[in-house]
Amino acid sequence: MTPKVVMVVMVPTEAATAPKTSIVTLKYTSRCCHFLYRIVSITIVQKGLVEAMHCCRAVDNSARAMLVKPRSQEVKNTMRKSTGAISRVGLTPVFVDIDPVTYNMCPEHTAKMAEQCDDLRAIMPVHLYGQAADMDAFIELGERHGVPIIEDAAQAMGTKDSQGAMVGTRGTIGTWSFFPTKNLGGFGDGGMCTTHDDELAESMRMDRVHGMEPKYYHRQVGVNSRLDALQAAVLAVKLRHLESWHAKRKHNADVYTKAFAAAGAATTESPLSDGGFPLRTPHANPAPARHIYNQYIIRVPEHMRDDLRAHLTEHKIGTEIYYPVPLHMQECFADLGYAPEDLPESLLASKETIALPIYPDLSDEQLHHVATTIIEWVTAHAAVNA
Ligand SMILES: Cc1ncc(COP(=O)(O)O)c(C=O)c1O
Repeated sequence: MTPKVVMVVMVPTEAATAPKTSIVTLKYTSRCCHFLYRIVSITIVQKGLVEAMHCCRAVDNSARAMLVKPRSQEVKNTMRKSTGAISRVGLTPVFVDIDPVTYNMCPEHTAKMAEQCDDLRAIMPVHLYGQAADMDAFIELGERHGVPIIEDAAQAMGTKDSQGAMVGTRGTIGTWSFFPTKNLGGFGDGGMCTTHDDELAESMRMDRVHGMEPKYYHRQVGVNSRLDALQAAVLAVKLRHLESWHAKRKHNADVYTKAFAAAGAATTESPLSDGGFPLRTPHANPAPARHIYNQYIIRVPEHMRDDLRAHLTEHKIGTEIYYPVPLHMQECFADLGYAPEDLPESLLASKETIALPIYPDLSDEQLHHVATTIIEWVTAHAAVNA
């Protein structure tokens, strides 16, 4: 499980303190893109600026938009893709551990690591699996350090935080993915940035079209990061169904959780080693927060995880491990010198978690089949290992 942590990017003081103004993007590459911007503005971010682009590019563009004077820097993060953006803009990611219950970045560990950074540029919470990170804590931390919050909301379109606010709307910038596995996924790659800051909006808007404004006049070095009109057309249609898909995912999660609870599954706060049925269901923060279940993650003891997965594969039940190698242990960050035990919760989660099928089209019969197959296998193996 990749830890999800903060990503930081530098922040020009002016941008950090600029008053937030609602804006809107009216520059579009096609009618489809324009239509998509409009409906996303209305339904998701309510008057926030919307720019469409590839998600990784969205994070890159956010990072670049905030990097007025490149300096060596610190960032905190755990999500592989967003961390790449930190490195690509010449900053150094600083990884923080996860909260073992929600799998989101641990605010206390983030605060501790932020204290140790001598040139902190930004904090980047990732709203993992469709559940909001602790935005109250991260916003307070950002204010304390005078750095922006860049929300990685790639897995969380429609997720609400503990105040009932849509994620991606309270930080300085929100970044989103329309990759096909997301709750709102296109037929290919796509993504988006949201902000209430006019200057950042202008910079990101230019950045996605080679830094041009006006046409053929390049004010900054940018990239090609436009959203395809075809993807915008697909997304605009799918967006109409998003709420019903969220509701179906929630229903699916409830079916699993009920079935596992009936088998004696551990509550989210119980350790797997407490002697009960060795399976833990995911935690959902209470309303007004909303989990949109981009993933439904269960936890089993390390010695069972891979065998259970193999058993499910044999029974034609698809699963995934998000993520098998924590970010601080990825080869591309070996030079940062982290030891596995530096982030113990992230390390343990990488060995104990499995994602189950949760997409909206699943029937109750399929859900019960998945739950029963798991319960029978875990029961048999728990008895053997007792
Ligand atoms: C949390 C998170 N951040 C960033 C990304 C990157 O999104 P994209 O693949 O659209 O660039 C993903 C995609 O898997 C993600 O899950």
